[in-house]
Amino acid sequence: MRRRALLGGGVALGLAGCGSPAPAPAPAPAGSASATGAAPPPPPHQAGIVTPPPAAAEFRAYDVAATARDELAALLGRIGDVAARPPASVTVSVGASLFDGRFGLADRRPARLTAMPGFPGDVLDPGRCHGDLLVQACAATPAAARALADAVARAAGPAVRRRWSATGFRHENGTTADGRPRDRNLFGFSDGAGNPDPADAATMDELVWVGAGSGEPAWAVGGSYQVVRLIRFAMELWNADPVERQEEVFGRRRSDGAPLGRERELDDPDYAADPNGQAIRLDAHIRRANPRTPETRNQRILRRGYSYRAGTDAAGHPDEGLIFVCFQQDLERGFATIQRRLAGEALERYILPFGGGYWFALPGTRGARPGELGRGLTTP
Ligand code: HEM
Repeated sequence: MRRRALLGGGVALGLAGCGSPAPAPAPAPAGSASATGAAPPPPPHQAGIVTPPPAAAEFRAYDVAATARDELAALLGRIGDVAARPPASVTVSVGASLFDGRFGLADRRPARLTAMPGFPGDVLDPGRCHGDLLVQACAATPAAARALADAVARAAGPAVRRRWSATGFRHENGTTADGRPRDRNLFGFSDGAGNPDPADAATMDELVWVGAGSGEPAWAVGGSYQVVRLIRFAMELWNADPVERQEEVFGRRRSDGAPLGRERELDDPDYAADPNGQAIRLDAHIRRANPRTPETRNQRILRRGYSYRAGTDAAGHPDEGLIFVCFQQDLERGFATIQRRLAGEALERYILPFGGGYWFALPGTRGARPGELGRGLTTP
């Protein structure tokens, strides 16, 4: 089946975009570290970003039906209270559309937060894009992830309307030899070795978390930009190609994930020694995604994706692929720069991005103060 055939097969067409928002830090109380001149404590973060991904996830995008700022504050607080119940891993993110004036938040929009634009090759279904809020609920089993997402929906009540949802899984969900999360995607390739180490706090401060003094609103410190892309795979087209061709497309071995021309998964590809693409082609996914030059070091992103499988479309073709998820400190420097560089990559003919959006994952909350999530954003 050709890529175009996927379009007729089940993905509704139309090009569109949308967006949403997040919370703020409370003023330092007297006697706190900053009041006494000591270094302030690091900003808290939500779970579900650098924490190891459990095997199952539900993604649900919502529009907010409430119209007043205090209703929004109460809504985020209620959702946050569900998120705070261990062992829950609920991550709440806000889209650019939340800052459209309904709640008087226009001047608090994170600097890089826009509606996700269409990229070359995208065929975006407006019904599967954007949303004022994104809820990512992760758990060890599909039933637990679903129960968690349902608990969030109950807490939200009529203050939200569901826009779209996606159910994801990581079927191997193992770790690389150095302990970072990895999975095998539905194309059969190991995914995760090129990620920065989420357990390395300094690297996460450099690449993932919004810090103070970065031109972002004060409330956003401790949050992170989240990108979700719903990407359908042309499985029949892919499976018709020999493994050698598939390996050229990614630039890694299918069996063990090693970069072509190297021995082990964690070996670094050496592009300087391979300027013409003899070992790893110039249009290979990993080479385009991360050219590994000093100039592109700060463009690295933290990927935390899930596979999806949604049966077959009306024409009998499998509807499955990747819920691509990534987090970064600066959406433009990270995802958008990489996505533009991927234009024309060899992988393009096997994939169809049809949904998703841009969000900002709220900073976390300190301790278990009820109603706290999003407080920094919504406090007048
Ligand atoms: C279409 C679906 C996609 C598939 C099947 C896919 C698969 C893979 C695989 C198998 C790897 C190699 C293993 C690894 O380094 O973790 C990889 C690496 C990577 N991918 Fe993707 N990917 C997809 C989309 C994207 C998108 C949309 C982006 C960002 C815009 C992206 C960014 C990256 C990055 C940054 C790396 C690491 C490269 C390195 O450091 O060497 N990928 N991907």
